[in-house]
Amino acid sequence: MTTSLPPKRILITGGSGLLALNWACRMRDQCEVYLARHTHDIRLRDTRVVPLELESIDSLLRRLEEYRPEWVVHTAGITSVDQCEREPALARAANAVLARNVAEATARLGLRLIHISTDHLFAGARSMYREDDVPEPLNEYARTKLLAEQWVVQAHPEALVIRTNFFGWGHAARRSFSDWIYYGLRAGEALTLFDDVFITPILADRLVAAAHRLLELGASGVFNVVGDERLSKHEFAARLAHAFQLPEALVQHGNIRNARLLAKRPLDMSLSNAKARQRLGASLGNAAEFLLELRQQDQNGRRDELLAAIAE
Ligand SMILES: NC(=O)c1ccc[n+]([C@@H]2O[C@H](COP(=O)([O-])OP(=O)(O)OC[C@H]3O[C@@H](n4cnc5c(N)ncnc54)[C@H](OP(=O)(O)O)[C@@H]3O)[C@@H](O)[C@H]2O)c1
Repeated sequence: MTTSLPPKRILITGGSGLLALNWACRMRDQCEVYLARHTHDIRLRDTRVVPLELESIDSLLRRLEEYRPEWVVHTAGITSVDQCEREPALARAANAVLARNVAEATARLGLRLIHISTDHLFAGARSMYREDDVPEPLNEYARTKLLAEQWVVQAHPEALVIRTNFFGWGHAARRSFSDWIYYGLRAGEALTLFDDVFITPILADRLVAAAHRLLELGASGVFNVVGDERLSKHEFAARLAHAFQLPEALVQHGNIRNARLLAKRPLDMSLSNAKARQRLGASLGNAAEFLLELRQQDQNGRRDELLAAIAE
């Protein structure tokens, strides 16, 4: 695979979602960004919001020929783990079938594709899973995301498939993990965070920068694009409280084993980013750096801008 120039135009599916909006903010000064809308209206400066039906390959082909992006980033899907468990057919249609359609259409048009997958694919009995570890999905969300990966790679062998766990500023209709902690603590609420669930979170903007760089370097196949540090959810929340000078005492210890959740979840979702680090020739960053950048984004107006980007 040869290296590519940065794209002049990208199109992002799931345009009203957390990742798509942060992706657009991160890249809009460097390329034209088209955000594909579904049910929510989107208002974000210096981006174009466009209709796109992911259910039909013919319609996708027509629209992509009309919009002419060089890269497509596929973020759309159903991300509520419990909703996927309750509605497995819908989860399969939204997470796997749409991904396959996007992969087929982009492959036929010779467009580069970044497909967003998840850190949720493993049973979580150990830590720092690598790209070639065998997935062992515990719930419908994970099963449909794994099927999506398999179909995407079949339909578009040059696609870049990114397994991740990200945070960043969200909006009223879709709060991120960091929003939930930030707004909860700001409102003086005591929050229970699990000590026994582990993640390797990355700030959305760092994920975006790494994904673009990987594609420019000609990378394809599966890459874990996550932060360098493995943290419990409780530790992450405590660090966020500290970084934003919010009351750390409100971050209380909990245990997922005692929680009543519909879908079974892995305890350890940490991924090793060694492959991405090696390809990029740089580390992906740690929580202190990400939280500092999250604060800077707030000071630069990103939080307010995204809060207003989607009507509830
Ligand atoms: N959030 C995380 O921490 C996390 C962690 C690991 C991996 N991921 C993966 O990252 C990706 C992005 O996640 P996110 O949190 O940004 O998602 P999100 O905020 O839940 O947004 C999902 C987007 O998908 C759209 N969508 C849903 N069904 C659709 C359909 N049938 N046709 C077209 N669009 C549809 C939604 O549109 P409307 O709402 O407008 O209908 C929304 O824009 C997902 O693939 C997810 O699996 C997320």
